[in-house]
Amino acid sequence: MKRIAILTSGGDVPGLNACIRAAARVAIYAGAEVIGVEHGYAGLIEGHFRRLDLRSVGGILSRGGTILGTVRSKAFETEAGRKEAITQLSRAGIDGLIVVGGNGSLRGAAYLSEMGLPLVGVPKTIDNDQYGTDIAIGVDTALNTIVDAVGRIKDTASSHHRAFLVETMGRDCGYLALASGIISGAEMALIPEFPASPDSVAQTIETSYRIGKAHCIIMLAEGWPPGMRALKDFLNQTHNGHPHNEGFDVREVVLGHIQRGGTPSAFDRMLATRLGAFAAEQLLSGTGHGAMVGLQGNQLTLMPLAKAISKCRVLDLELLRLADILAK
Ligand code: F6P
Repeated sequence: MKRIAILTSGGDVPGLNACIRAAARVAIYAGAEVIGVEHGYAGLIEGHFRRLDLRSVGGILSRGGTILGTVRSKAFETEAGRKEAITQLSRAGIDGLIVVGGNGSLRGAAYLSEMGLPLVGVPKTIDNDQYGTDIAIGVDTALNTIVDAVGRIKDTASSHHRAFLVETMGRDCGYLALASGIISGAEMALIPEFPASPDSVAQTIETSYRIGKAHCIIMLAEGWPPGMRALKDFLNQTHNGHPHNEGFDVREVVLGHIQRGGTPSAFDRMLATRLGAFAAEQLLSGTGHGAMVGLQGNQLTLMPLAKAISKCRVLDLELLRLADILAK
């Protein structure tokens, strides 16, 4: 294999640049030429390619975001779009592709692989819902960002004796809310995987107040039904003349996209570097074509893309029990 390409697709995460750097340098070391595809699958369809040499991937290891840009492409969801992508690659003399992406992007990668393109996928998502790897690139940094933010929120919450509802990202997965809740000392975590009523939140806030806590922190995953607004409305209503949130005054914080930015943590730099290097080796040697690289039990692993996209990583609900015990 003489010339390979790499692209980043879907939501950005910290660690993408570390992955690009490692994949490019390992491939160049092995004698291949490396092409960066700009703006994910959209750029692939339009042939936005640029050569990556040793210097062009220098100084990016610690940078958040992706130097290649990333897009959620509608055109690539069509068969015509995917055929055009293959045409662009063959016109540019590109023999193989590394796709760094989450569930949706790896689904796209599986299509390209089925069309005969030598390809290796690398899992990235802050949501930690990717099957076939214990953890994806970006999760650890996002978790660190959340923990830092909750620490700051706790300072002001304790000073004012307030309750805070803190919303994390995660789409349909509660990992970020639950894990950050455990390691931030939150009083409760609300996640899509486990039903909890607004009434149980009101009770937690009231109990925290009654037993003399200076604050009450409720972590809330964005995918938790009925969601932040409905919960806030419920807590503001009164029941038998008393507010549902008897005790603490309640404030809300939506952490939003700060969870996706910033310099990658040491863990993410190492994970992205190992996965990127492994992906390049697997693509060049031909042993990992049509597979997603991953980390399981601290071992680098390969899983067929079709299997990796067949389901989501299941959240360990034992963590919820632990969170409950520790919050007392
Ligand atoms: O999948 C990553 C993620 O950050 C989710 O947690 C979130 O729901 C979504 O992407 C936000 O997407 P966008 O950046 O398009 O608003």
